[in-house]
Amino acid sequence: MARLVAAHELPVVADLLRSEPSILVLTGAGVSAASGLPTYRGAGGIYQDTDIADLHHASRLPDSLPELWAFWGPRRRTILLAEPNAAHRAIADLQHRAAAEGRAVTLATQNIDDLHERGGSRQVAHLHGTLFATRCLTEGCGFRRSPDLEPYDAPPTFPDCGGWLRPDVVLFGERLDVAADWEARRAVRSCTALLAVGTSAEVSTASYYLRYARDVGAVVMCVDPADEVPDLFGLHVRGRAEDVLPELLAPAG
Ligand code: OAD
Repeated sequence: MARLVAAHELPVVADLLRSEPSILVLTGAGVSAASGLPTYRGAGGIYQDTDIADLHHASRLPDSLPELWAFWGPRRRTILLAEPNAAHRAIADLQHRAAAEGRAVTLATQNIDDLHERGGSRQVAHLHGTLFATRCLTEGCGFRRSPDLEPYDAPPTFPDCGGWLRPDVVLFGERLDVAADWEARRAVRSCTALLAVGTSAEVSTASYYLRYARDVGAVVMCVDPADEVPDLFGLHVRGRAEDVLPELLAPAG
């Protein structure tokens, strides 16, 4: 079971994160919750509607395209109107400080929003792709438009080949974004600490990196308000990211 970090132990964990030479920060939907974006699982989560959860299986393409765009197209606008919160900013500050100190901090996210970038992070590995890119479904076409901010509510086509366009996000049954996955794998191989923020670790993306980090002997911790978190985590800082991270990742006072 993950060891719950008591409030009085928080400064110790903060000190640890200030000195670790190589940190992988892995974020999930919870980091954007305070920006008004829903998580996938749990109360108020997108997947409470099982039809919506089912829609996210690649095996349902291309028939699912109208529903997929009806769901995600308008959400492009919702996300663009959302603001990064204190958690996104705290992570970006950590990255900037670490770079100046010669320490490595790699950020890998399962989120398809752009709040880390707008919160100040210059390096973000988007393991599940990005909602703000669109690509053609036609085999061998290779057309990709990025950025694409258009809030389509019906499937667009690519006039050159006549193929359907899809949001460039990773669905169940698909491989992770290759470049992002390699960036995260390179980081996890040599990390001394993995800080997960706002992920239930229910999908294999997260659990893969958590297992890998444990294998290489890194300290594996999470920041999450849930009462219980998976055993893959060694340490559990219980709280909301937007409340905890500004303190946990603050520079030495
Ligand atoms: P989940 O919805 O599975 O988990 C969100 C986690 O965030 C839970 O553990 C919550 O307790 C926690 N949480 C809620 N509010 C929080 C807050 N204010 N601060 C910190 N944590 C908070 O989201 P993910 O683990 O990101 O993939 O889901 C992983 C993937 O499942 C998603 O990327 C998506 C989905 O299928 C694809 O669509 C491919």
